[in-house]
Amino acid sequence: MKILKQNKTAIVTGGASGIGWAITEKFIGANIQTVIIGRDQQKLKKAKDKFGKLCIPMACDLSETGRIPDLVEEIESKYGGINILVNNAGINLKKDFLTVSDEEFQQILQTNVAAVFTLSREVSKKMIHQGGGSIINISSMAAVYGLPKVIAYTASKAAIEGMTRAMAVELSPKGIRVNCIAPGFISTDMSAKALNGDKERLQKVLSRTPMGELGKPGDVGDAALFLALESAKYITGVILPVDGGNSIGF
Ligand code: NAI
Repeated sequence: MKILKQNKTAIVTGGASGIGWAITEKFIGANIQTVIIGRDQQKLKKAKDKFGKLCIPMACDLSETGRIPDLVEEIESKYGGINILVNNAGINLKKDFLTVSDEEFQQILQTNVAAVFTLSREVSKKMIHQGGGSIINISSMAAVYGLPKVIAYTASKAAIEGMTRAMAVELSPKGIRVNCIAPGFISTDMSAKALNGDKERLQKVLSRTPMGELGKPGDVGDAALFLALESAKYITGVILPVDGGNSIGF
């Protein structure tokens, strides 16, 4: 049975935790039917229980990019057109440059870059067919300045910013706006892993953040909602820092 078509349908990858959870919360608050894709069934169920009927959980490991075309087909046929895609899912690895193996490097690139490419390509085909859409990628301060011990993550997020611009010039004439949010340091499981137990790094982060504190996932959620909707209808190809000033801090 087809679910009754809402105003808009979004896909948020990694939507069952951290920043993705907050983006999902904002979208559902705006009556946007939101498909969340993740690997962890329990986390997906928890999100479904919290968000209710507008939230559609789908389990998929996006690093297995061969599964993505069928996944997108299934979402479109079951839930109607896809208007918004947020490529939020990502993984990090904090390790000295000299000790990162080829496999570890590839693994980060596979999830943070290759999966974003494949999913964006497949969703774009649907968006073009239905007359347009909005894609939002998630970058990081690692793409802005040199951050030690995150070589693969840095490579992946620099790629995301380049891909945002390349996608924007090719897809905007076809009605798809492509933008990117570069979060600063936001309180989530991922940042806790990188900062907890590393007082020096936390101190460094806070000392160069003019607003003096970590961001909240909802801060990124607000920016994603803005970029997703008609409020940003003449905006494409931008990298929007949501960082309390971290990227311009001394
Ligand atoms: P998180 O670890 O809480 O959430 C990441 C989500 O992505 C999880 O739900 C995870 O299951 C999902 N995911 C990872 N690999 C996947 C795969 N192969 N298939 C499907 N789902 C997968 O992390 P957080 O902090 O919410 O990060 C979200 C995004 O924001 C990431 O792209 C991250 O790089 C980015 N970011 C986070 C910052 C922070 O301070 N927390 C700062 C800058 C960027």
